[in-house]
Amino acid sequence: MNPARADHRVDARAKVTGALRYGVDRAPDDLAYAAFAVATINRGRVLDVDTTAAQRVPGVQVVITRIDRDELGSQGFVMSGGYGFQSFQPLVGDQIAYRGQPIALVVADTLVAATEAAELVTARYAEEPFAVTLDGPGAETLVQAQAIPLPMTEDLAVGDADRAFAAAPVQVDVEIHGPPQHQVPMELISSVVRWRGDTLVIHEGSQNSGAIQHGVAQQLGIDPATVEMISPPVGGGFGQKNSLQPHIGPLAVAARRVGRPVKLVLTRTQVFHQASFRPASRHRVRVGADSSGRLLAAIHEIDQQTSRQDLFPALYTEVSSRLYGITNFRGLQRLVRTDVQTPGYMRAPFEHIATFAMESAVDQVAYATGQDPVALRLANDADRDPVTGLPFSSRHVAECLRRGAKRFGWADRTPQPRSMRAADGSLVGWGVAIGAYPGSTCPAVAVLCVDGSGTVSVAVTGHEMGQGISTAVARLVAGDLGVEPDAVRLDLADSRRTPQVLTAGSWGTATALPAVHAALRELRRQLGVPDTGPVDLRGAVAASGRPEVEVRASNLGAGQDASAMDRIRNGTLAFAGPAYPDFVTFSYAAHFVEVRIAPLTGQIRVPRVVSVADCGRVASPVTAASQLRGGVIWGIGAALREQSEVDPRYGGFLNASYEGYPIAVNADIHQIDVDFVDEPDPRINPVGVKGLGEISMVGVAAAVVNAVYHATGTRFTRLPIHIEDVLPVL
Ligand code: MOS
Repeated sequence: MNPARADHRVDARAKVTGALRYGVDRAPDDLAYAAFAVATINRGRVLDVDTTAAQRVPGVQVVITRIDRDELGSQGFVMSGGYGFQSFQPLVGDQIAYRGQPIALVVADTLVAATEAAELVTARYAEEPFAVTLDGPGAETLVQAQAIPLPMTEDLAVGDADRAFAAAPVQVDVEIHGPPQHQVPMELISSVVRWRGDTLVIHEGSQNSGAIQHGVAQQLGIDPATVEMISPPVGGGFGQKNSLQPHIGPLAVAARRVGRPVKLVLTRTQVFHQASFRPASRHRVRVGADSSGRLLAAIHEIDQQTSRQDLFPALYTEVSSRLYGITNFRGLQRLVRTDVQTPGYMRAPFEHIATFAMESAVDQVAYATGQDPVALRLANDADRDPVTGLPFSSRHVAECLRRGAKRFGWADRTPQPRSMRAADGSLVGWGVAIGAYPGSTCPAVAVLCVDGSGTVSVAVTGHEMGQGISTAVARLVAGDLGVEPDAVRLDLADSRRTPQVLTAGSWGTATALPAVHAALRELRRQLGVPDTGPVDLRGAVAASGRPEVEVRASNLGAGQDASAMDRIRNGTLAFAGPAYPDFVTFSYAAHFVEVRIAPLTGQIRVPRVVSVADCGRVASPVTAASQLRGGVIWGIGAALREQSEVDPRYGGFLNASYEGYPIAVNADIHQIDVDFVDEPDPRINPVGVKGLGEISMVGVAAAVVNAVYHATGTRFTRLPIHIEDVLPVL
């Protein structure tokens, strides 16, 4: 196979043949099975747990209802130097912080016995009032900049946004609502945990092996070097698997007590209640413009849900301040404490909804000023970062817009709302939106080894969640050395080989590839071969007189020092960007969407989408195209399908299953045409790659809603748009 072949994906064969092994596929002998019994109230204290019936189920080994703090210490909160997606640890006290929280852990010889026993556990509670919505009684609103006094969480302000808005001839004022949502990856939250002597071995699909390794070591009071955390390919993460989950500590305790490996797979409903989710948020956006559509001012104020126990930060204005060259901007981010598990990152966590808010307002400016929505966006592009005044390392959003408009045939659009109809009478709407996503980087370590047979193996900081990082790494190595990608052995996300940091924030490939690139330079130096061009690896290793040549190299983000590497060696967060010392980095996209709304039923279909992304150099064309299409589908789901339903009387989530939580399915998806600017960004790293995983969906929901406006003349401000919302305005 030609190494340069762009349509090859190294894990494709294993995936389609079912040979790929996920975390809990690694079943050791003598496996025991665990299941949780969960709280049936939303807040209060558990008075007593009755395990009598559960203990009688044949095959039950142990039922754990309480673990001493001595045995299971604190994991901390990932956003404040800890390891957990939340600081709260069930089973170590009597507090019930949210519905669905574990109150007992059953371990049995079979899955059936564990499940049956868990269902037989009952409890008595002392209930307390709770709030699960932004406006619920008892929800507590905090100004984030005061509650979390960190540079990252400060409110952005440049120029005088209030004065400029007040003086603007055209004013748009919109309040938009983003619902809570769940990631629902195919692979459930699950682990196999076993003790090999004093060493704890964990097999779990995770985006952050380092946090699990160090976090569980801290909880158990053991040396992190005695925790082996192996995260084989992950069956989808999307932010939900990005730190230590609170089931792992209790599972390790249980495995020690029963002296056997233990496997736990949370049920889908339990995942909705025990793992992080996208919090509800409400946005007021005011945008001022002159009569030609030049954007003069923007004010973006946010209320975002968090939990009682932790402050999950709201970082929306980082992107809303940079979508355009607006020199008067003010942000205000508030957090609302509610009685839920701590929310967290979900693919394009802030950018998706912040962009929906901004791009709804900007679209209104286009209609109010009689400007074409594409032309207005091009005219307001930024030539440098309006927040810091620094240059962008690269910014090709205008090219995304121009190329997308051409591919979509935007010139044929008639501007008036309700002016386009299909032959069957459907209202047709064409909408556009842009997106931006911060370009972050983490420290990474790569180990390259070539043996006497010429086989190359690579271990690197990074997790494969299906996004294509393995193909990108294999292609870089193969292309550099002149071998075939399939000949490159990959070892990702293995804490035994290299330190592991969170793979998220769209920094995975932009973090791993520069380290691999540095290792390739070092390998060539040690082999004594030129710095470029194909290498006769067998010959070079033979000439070295060594059985194999192994090199190790690391890479830091621009402006990072050795302390960042120390942080990742301890399993804590250490990302740089999007503002670096000399420049600011974002990835960009432009999405063009056609909607058709059926005249009688109000059914909204999306027959075609054109998306063009600027992610720097495209490291792997086939997986990049797949990422971009996947992001578009994710955005269509966000616009038209996905919402975690909350009933303030009961708490928890009502539609906690695949049947109840509709995601976009094949029948919802039609033509998605994707393209890339593919301009390397040499300032962000020597490979020239920026992020892609999340920019792929940023702006999609906005483009859908803008298209629905064009079709109906009605602007929807709540996601998702349902048929019953559209029927009255047909
Ligand atoms: Mo992603 S939501 O940064 O895992």
